[in-house]
Amino acid sequence: MRVYAEHHDLIGRRDPMLYGQFLEHFHRQIYGGVYDPESRFSDGDGFRTDVLEALRAIHVPVIRWPGGCFVSSYHWKDGVGKERIPCFDKAWRVEEPNLFGTDEFILLCQKLNCAPYICTNAGTGTAEEMSDWVEYCNLEREGKFARLRIQNGHERPFDVRYWSIGNENYGAHEIGAKSETEWGRLVAESAKMMKHVDPRIELSAAALTDLDWNINLLRHSAQFLDWISIHQYWDRIHETNRPASYEGAVAFTAHTEDSIRKVRGLLTAMGLEHKIRIAFDEWNLKEWYHPRVHTVEQGVTKEEYLYPRDGNDDNSLYTMGDAVFTACFLNALHRNCDIVGMANFAPAINTRGCICTHEDGLVLRSTYFVFYLYTNYMGEVVRRTKCPDMRQLRVKNSDGAEELTDQVDLCVTELADGSGVAVAAVNKSAQESAELSLELEAEGSVTGYYICGRGTDSYNDVGRTEIGIEKEELGRYEPGMRIRLRPHSVEVIRICR
Ligand code: AHR
Repeated sequence: MRVYAEHHDLIGRRDPMLYGQFLEHFHRQIYGGVYDPESRFSDGDGFRTDVLEALRAIHVPVIRWPGGCFVSSYHWKDGVGKERIPCFDKAWRVEEPNLFGTDEFILLCQKLNCAPYICTNAGTGTAEEMSDWVEYCNLEREGKFARLRIQNGHERPFDVRYWSIGNENYGAHEIGAKSETEWGRLVAESAKMMKHVDPRIELSAAALTDLDWNINLLRHSAQFLDWISIHQYWDRIHETNRPASYEGAVAFTAHTEDSIRKVRGLLTAMGLEHKIRIAFDEWNLKEWYHPRVHTVEQGVTKEEYLYPRDGNDDNSLYTMGDAVFTACFLNALHRNCDIVGMANFAPAINTRGCICTHEDGLVLRSTYFVFYLYTNYMGEVVRRTKCPDMRQLRVKNSDGAEELTDQVDLCVTELADGSGVAVAAVNKSAQESAELSLELEAEGSVTGYYICGRGTDSYNDVGRTEIGIEKEELGRYEPGMRIRLRPHSVEVIRICR
């Protein structure tokens, strides 16, 4: 398969925030995840140093927090100051100790040198509560909330630049869900107050691929928005925890760009494609497992809605299928980097995250190595890629229907310092290698960094390492150079002077 990508044919410079992560107060993501004062791995502030180190190695550029569904009844004022009063979290139906709040989140971001992205409560919260939060974080010392921050030991403002109004407020599952017209008005009024507090902030608002929802939202509030927020989990298993097979995961890769295309189309139709960017601020192949929690069913017990959540942390679920899907989606984000400026893998730690904590250390799941490959080896400028003789794979999707998808997913980038080219190549085939013939404007020596595991179902667990990054030196680049991709593999090929 011949691969062409020319230096003059660029899509654009991708925002590093495409490699962002998400953390929600759900199960063991915060408590027992990144924040665990009782752990022998934790620093004086209660953060797991092994987790911090793993996150630093994938250069996390931005973290979205505190939810997710959790945020739609979260009151940030309960989570700051000396006195932390536990509350009942009505979304996930557990006690929230409020020990990790805004100050701790900012400290986490400072330790990681990444941007904080705060999602506000637009479920039970008000425009005033949202804008008070901006005061707390961003005002120097005017007013009671900036003073409260100073009183809490933070003289300098936190300068949080990225904010989003609400989370999935369109959905019946969400606490305080809104109708289309309610949403447009609430966003406009909240945005107005938030930007009156700090006009430098960049604002997003909860949206989806639904035309009516988005038209209402944008008609009322486009003037205030810099972003529009969308989410997607392809494998819908929140009630069953029975994931699609490897083949099913590959079938989902045929649909990585569907939502982006729809939202791009609408923004373009409304003349907003140069004003508002897409924040794909929750995404993962697999939906989180939380059966019977968003329910009005009577008589559902704690055993039925709470304890099954441990099933998310079964490491055997995170295989090369997840790695292949994750890489294909990152490629899709690159291909659309002119309109998608941020994305947040959901979540970073535990649940379906790329890092899983246990008492004695970490398990780095297959997806972790995909982030490692992209954040360490890919370039910043995306070339348009063409492969005229791409082979097609015929695969069965999780509904049992046949689909066609490209065998190899490709993305060609240039390193911003001009030192070379980096190509991400995902061979989705379970059995067949793929041979690429690289027809690129590039020069230098060629190095491949790849992950493939022993089989499609390989996974890492406590005491079991089947997936990691391998390196191969491939010699000097010549136009037409042939590169063999292993089956079920993700590879970044660098051609550098
Ligand atoms: O399943 C996790 C939840 O998925 C997040 O809280 C929410 O934002 C999304 O529906």
